[in-house]
Amino acid sequence: MSGVPCSRAGWTFAATLGLALVAALSALTGFTSADTWTAEDRAALASMSLDRLPPPRSDPSNVVESVPAAAALGQRLFAEVRFSRNQAVSCASCHAPGRQFQDGLPVGQGVGTGSRRTMPIAGVAHSPWLFWDGRKDSLWSQALGPLEDAVEHGSNRTRIAKVLNTHYRAEYEALFGPMPDLTGLPEDAGPQGNAAEQSAWQRMAPNRREDVNRVFANLGKAIAAFERTVTPGESRFDRYVRAVMARDTEGQRAMSAQEINGLRLFLGKGQCATCHNGPLLTDQHFHNTGVPPRDAARPDRGRGAATTKVPQDEFNCLGKYSDAAPAACQELRFMVTDDPSMEGAFKTPSLRNVALRAPYMHAGQLASLEDVVAHYAKSPPSAVGHSELAHEGRAHAERKPIRLSASDVRDVAAFLRTLSGPITFAE
Ligand code: HEC
Ligand code: HEC
Repeated sequence: MSGVPCSRAGWTFAATLGLALVAALSALTGFTSADTWTAEDRAALASMSLDRLPPPRSDPSNVVESVPAAAALGQRLFAEVRFSRNQAVSCASCHAPGRQFQDGLPVGQGVGTGSRRTMPIAGVAHSPWLFWDGRKDSLWSQALGPLEDAVEHGSNRTRIAKVLNTHYRAEYEALFGPMPDLTGLPEDAGPQGNAAEQSAWQRMAPNRREDVNRVFANLGKAIAAFERTVTPGESRFDRYVRAVMARDTEGQRAMSAQEINGLRLFLGKGQCATCHNGPLLTDQHFHNTGVPPRDAARPDRGRGAATTKVPQDEFNCLGKYSDAAPAACQELRFMVTDDPSMEGAFKTPSLRNVALRAPYMHAGQLASLEDVVAHYAKSPPSAVGHSELAHEGRAHAERKPIRLSASDVRDVAAFLRTLSGPITFAE
């Protein structure tokens, strides 16, 4: 007879037996109820661990990128204030090494005020495109932008070349060969400067402009060699993943139950890992996620406005000052320029050390990690282009709406706080 009604005592006995079995099994295997990751989850966790971070991409357009003397010079240039118009601004004023290589401000403050947030540098050599909109295709070319930007260093090319010649000539020549003769050049001249500087630049002989451009490009290459050494370090999350992989129950205490739940949501219904993946928790790509613009009257078009700038940049991978053979410039040659989804899209930031550098998003629009996660839970439509996140009034082919409760939001934010670790760089 199969239908024997189970007595309460029978149930209790079965349950006790079951529990005893589980206990015996976990004693044997080191498994606990906290460790319930599926094989698929475990693979995802391993792929996000810092142990999996490959060496940075190699940049064929910069032959000194791995030369220690270039990194040493680059580090000094990074902190050099004499390049700037007011003799007070250096790269390090905004990218402060003691502050996650950023400034904690909603938008950058140089000789004037910018319109986007200062980006952290750690791990940046893994990124094929630089800036929030990816308008530069190499680290060295990126470094030249702020020097001539009216609100950052506010300087110009001849001034910069002369400062380099006066204070760093020996180090420069050891790396790049003889410094060209800069005597007789105007103090202030450059193609991006004010009207007087631009016309002074136009009056210079083409071969002298080229000399200055080459010195300028080489300065960028030394700075890039330094930035390449700036690397994020191990976090509690990495220690937790290592413990999960080793089935080390004790080691898994590196994260609390709330943080583990946040991680589960990050991988699962929060859909965060579709964009924030790999050891740096970024896909190095651009997405429109409907972040409210800083200036509603003139919303920032992000990547949508940048793809026309890169091919025209004289300091790109295919340009005269690049060390790469044209065939090596894969990213630039195959850059997609007509993708409508890039309108209002910004680079996915790495989430390493994210808790240490509020405020968030491309113009510091959101104050806290809770605000950021709540933004995803809300998934508002975008002011410019279309948000990739599914939201009311816009279904999405691949994406389900992100539904997170108030306590889910807190748990995901708690998880994000486990991603902090020390930053190292060449000294
Ligand atoms: C006035 C503050 C300021 C100064 C000075 C400054 N930066 Fe920046 N930096 C920013 C801002 C703001 C952004 C983002 C701008 C954008 O996306 O348009 C940025 C972006 C970057 C990025 C891109 C990172 C990424 O992930 O794409 C790098 C690299 C960088 N800066 C390096 C430098 C270097 C090198 C110097 C000195 C030559 C420098 N910065 C000077 C504020 C500054
Ligand atoms: C469709 C891709 C995508 C998805 C999905 C996504 N993000 Fe993002 N994330 C981005 C992009 C792009 C930005 C930068 C947006 C901007 O500045 O306008 C960003 C910014 C952030 C920031 C701010 C970092 C900083 O330095 O400013 C955090 C934190 C963050 N995301 C966490 C999450 C979490 C948690 C989830 C899941 C709930 C998530 N993201 C889902 C692409 C995505």
